[in-house]
Amino acid sequence: MTTDQSATGTATQSPWALGDYHRFAKSTIWELGAVIVEACDITAGQRVLDVAAGTGNVAIRAALRGAQVVASDITPENFPAGRAEAAEQGATLDWIEADAQALPFADGEFNVVTSSFGAIFAPDHQAVANEMVRVCRPGGVIGMTAFAPDGLGGPFFDLFAPFVPPPTAGALPTVQWGDEGHVRQLFADRLDLELSRRSYVERAPTPEAYCDLFLSTFGPAVAVAASLADEPDRAAEFKEALLDFAVRSNSGPAGGPAEYRYDYLLIIGRKRPTSGDKRRTG
Ligand SMILES: C[S@@+](CC[C@H](N)C(=O)[O-])C[C@H]1O[C@@H](n2cnc3c(N)ncnc32)[C@H](O)[C@@H]1O
Repeated sequence: MTTDQSATGTATQSPWALGDYHRFAKSTIWELGAVIVEACDITAGQRVLDVAAGTGNVAIRAALRGAQVVASDITPENFPAGRAEAAEQGATLDWIEADAQALPFADGEFNVVTSSFGAIFAPDHQAVANEMVRVCRPGGVIGMTAFAPDGLGGPFFDLFAPFVPPPTAGALPTVQWGDEGHVRQLFADRLDLELSRRSYVERAPTPEAYCDLFLSTFGPAVAVAASLADEPDRAAEFKEALLDFAVRSNSGPAGGPAEYRYDYLLIIGRKRPTSGDKRRTG
């Protein structure tokens, strides 16, 4: 699924504005923000850009380390929840609406550029890679997480396909970012890359509760359900597909809780110094 594939067929509102993204993130991928901050070794005083930051999974933790942080995302509707989380944690940072494919920042402005399961949703992967490299200073670090296509992310995103409009021409699948060869090609010889495959577990009391979490909080799922409001049979098919995924993919112990182990690629890259660019290193 890509962001321009609004389930309603309109391009006016990001599906990520629907539901309750912050509750979703806190129940699923919130622990991964810390993984990126640690892997990028973010330190006090660094300028950090978190791309497709959502409600600040990486950004808030980077700010808590004393970095000067900008959280950017195409869905500003989620910034109030991010600001509230930041205030609760005692973190100070800036929130700026931005498309990962056309970042409104200067060349080499940041020591560290991150994205936790975020920029992977933009349809033009090469534009995202180019922009993340451009705004990172030579010697600086880029850190991302991306679902592996052969892990649970593959079948999860596939289940949406029959219920959303076809992707726009040239849009690449989100999970392709989890393919090592693809990532190496996107960054070509501009980064020294360290790619490692990892996994994390999402939990819910039951598969049904896992489905309910998605249907009430995960914007793209809420958008599909809303688009099928006048087609009860199709809406039921979508919920069945989600439940089927939740039942089949549950690797938890008999009797609960339900557990879902997602494989992902941790992408860490240091920007190589380029001739003609002698700015200080990250
Ligand atoms: C799964 S959420 C991840 C959010 C956050 N990084 C986290 O770890 O919780 C995906 C995010 O990507 C954002 N997004 C999708 N397409 C984008 C684009 N083209 N540019 C910027 N952000 C985008 C969505 O608005 C959403 O906040």
